[in-house]
Amino acid sequence: MDYTTFEEEGTRGSTRNMCCGLCACIIRVMSNIQLWLILHPNFITRFFLWFFYVFEVLAYSINPKSFLNSRSDVLGKNYAALGKIIIGDYRLVAGIIEGAQKRGAFLGRARLAHKKIASAFPLFLSDEGAGGTSLHSTIHQNIWALAQPALDRAHGPEFDKYVEDGVREYKRTQKNGALNDMTAKYVFHAVFGAPLPNKKELKNIQTLFIGNFPWSSYTFGALKPFSALFHCFQCSRTSRIKRLKEVVLATPLLLGYVPSEANGNLSADEYAEMLVSVCGIAGILGTSNLIKNVAKAIPENVSIDLSDQREVMRAVLEAARIRAPVNNVNVLTTTVKTMRVNNKLKTLPMNTVFAGSIGLACFDESVFANPKKYDHKRENIEKAVLNFNHVGFSPEGAGTRQCPGRNIAMKLAADFLIGLRTPAFVENNN
Ligand code: HEM
Repeated sequence: MDYTTFEEEGTRGSTRNMCCGLCACIIRVMSNIQLWLILHPNFITRFFLWFFYVFEVLAYSINPKSFLNSRSDVLGKNYAALGKIIIGDYRLVAGIIEGAQKRGAFLGRARLAHKKIASAFPLFLSDEGAGGTSLHSTIHQNIWALAQPALDRAHGPEFDKYVEDGVREYKRTQKNGALNDMTAKYVFHAVFGAPLPNKKELKNIQTLFIGNFPWSSYTFGALKPFSALFHCFQCSRTSRIKRLKEVVLATPLLLGYVPSEANGNLSADEYAEMLVSVCGIAGILGTSNLIKNVAKAIPENVSIDLSDQREVMRAVLEAARIRAPVNNVNVLTTTVKTMRVNNKLKTLPMNTVFAGSIGLACFDESVFANPKKYDHKRENIEKAVLNFNHVGFSPEGAGTRQCPGRNIAMKLAADFLIGLRTPAFVENNN
């Protein structure tokens, strides 16, 4: 999964870069070497692949969209990069999303140190059908069970106030900080049933999940190989996680928590840690990316009937399609696969890392006509959307891995869009 920031995903490179001949040649050589290494897995090739991962993860961080697009321009929909196989073909990505998944500690472009992330983090747990235990489906269902009460809560007046404040602050400053704050307050309160206690805790969440310092960021601090270099300087990260867990343990959701089959028999501490990672990485970072898309990727001159709930929903879904808020779904193959990679038919061994790129699949012309154009009236937006790790739009919990936070994130995004486009909204609510 790639919970990259909005700037990373979109604004710094929203158009396809047509590479110059030399760049195209370098891309081709780098990718073909990686493909060869992937096709011949052993201790030595894995070691060399590691260098490509480190080098390219840095290149990707400078401008992810341009990184991905320039490679698909040269190499086709699926290609070797970042030490793995990037899948951009819509149908293959849909197949990954719908199938049983074997997982490792991969998050977006990154490889993470297992020990530095919650042990029951669902994104790193394999499905039973792909060699995992029942823990994934237990945790998945447990989180789905929390999602409906969280959505019910989000209809309360405090939540209108979060949106109202967020819209007002964003209109005033045009800064992402306003959107991050609104999202963190909204998601935390909805999930845990209590508001964030104070500004210090809000700042703590921002530092851990939106910040990018290896000594204090939750994901960057776990990123291989850099986390090893910074390991001794991560007291800030450790104490922030500890503090957030304490806050979470004191919320109504966790009071009276008893380990049981329904929660995978996790201790209260493990359960709080799992929810901290889910809400921070999946919830807050993913949702704030979506909100930023709603604020910036919907052209101002596109007219949306704000009194039509379905049209508003479609507008939000199209904003997610045009810039995937969560980009990659990483899996390990459980069988030998034959497919086109680097424009050639290749047979890939088992345990190859595939990054199903939702971002590239959303631009697959064979599914979304004129993909670069924002058009919330495109006929297949509801049935073809992949953004919430499910093929098509289904509010009910379907499939084994559909994002459980989807309805909460959609409600916030829809309310935010209405607020943003209603000139009297802020004044009326004052
Ligand atoms: C309240 C907000 C959210 C919460 C609590 C949440 C929670 C989760 C959880 C627990 C999973 C793991 C599902 C599993 O594998 O069993 C997940 C997966 C996913 N979510 Fe969300 N999510 C939220 C918002 C979003 C948003 C806004 C997006 C993007 C539009 C998104 C896209 C995804 C995707 C693509 C996955 C699959 C990632 C992967 O398997 O690597 N989520 N989410």
